[in-house]
Amino acid sequence: MNQDRRTQSLSDHYRRPDLADILREAIAKSGKTIRSYQDTAAFDEFHMRGREATRELARLADMSTGDKVLDLGCGLGGPARMLAAEFGCTVTGIDLMAEYIEAAEMLTDMVGLAHRVTFRQGDMQALPFADSRFDVVWSQHTLMNIADKPALFEQIHRVLTPKGKIALYEVVAGNVSPRHYPVQWATDPSMDHLIDGDTLRAQLAAAGFVPSIWQDTTAACRQWFEAIQSRMADRPKDAPPPLGLNLVIGPTTAEKAKNTVRNLKEDRIRVVYGVVEKSFKC
Ligand SMILES: C[S@@+](CC[C@H](N)C(=O)[O-])C[C@H]1O[C@@H](n2cnc3c(N)ncnc32)[C@H](O)[C@@H]1O
Repeated sequence: MNQDRRTQSLSDHYRRPDLADILREAIAKSGKTIRSYQDTAAFDEFHMRGREATRELARLADMSTGDKVLDLGCGLGGPARMLAAEFGCTVTGIDLMAEYIEAAEMLTDMVGLAHRVTFRQGDMQALPFADSRFDVVWSQHTLMNIADKPALFEQIHRVLTPKGKIALYEVVAGNVSPRHYPVQWATDPSMDHLIDGDTLRAQLAAAGFVPSIWQDTTAACRQWFEAIQSRMADRPKDAPPPLGLNLVIGPTTAEKAKNTVRNLKEDRIRVVYGVVEKSFKC
């Protein structure tokens, strides 16, 4: 499949027309007031274990005040706002989906963080940023959509400062295949570009990156999903839909979650944290 068709089918997978309106309406119906970045955590962290995982990664990566961060595939900007609010970072988010960027900007304005967090619609495979511009490149559940990871790692190497690093929280392939579809990041195998953790590390090393931290966090992800499933089972049948990622993912939310849990349980996927330092370029 050529790059244009690949991008088109990925956009079809993630597309959620009028997302900003959907969120505004759901927030109004819930009776909640959005004043702080904390108030949006239920629906703006588009990865397993939500904000807890973002905070854990930030601590592992030793994020600090003044760090200039590029958030690849930033989604609705939840992680970017948390990094700004809790760790004092200045964050630029980039995402393929124009409606995600619109929603990210709306939520960032609502919580008063627009002076520290900005967004740009674009393809992370052609980063529109100057060399050595960022201290940290941040990636949570995005590499699975990238077929040519070595080319992306070259781009990342270019935009990082000489002492820069990548903080990643990624799904990798397990020992068993094929995976069950659809999942949150792919309708079918054509847009699923998972590789196993060893291959990912080897590709990073070839691009001039050395892991200082690499941790498997699969068990915690499985427990998180099981806790959600048991909460959902206890909900009254006539309860209104929760203010959660279902607003972003839409009617296929439950099916995708079910397949992801099966993939985790059957070792078809694993989840890792990595902090990877820029070293040299081969
Ligand atoms: C599972 S979501 C994760 C969003 C965000 N990182 C988070 O954790 O909340 C994957 C995101 O990657 C974005 N994405 C996928 N391929 C991309 C590309 N080539 N360039 C920019 N964004 C991309 C999608 O639009 C989507 O928002």
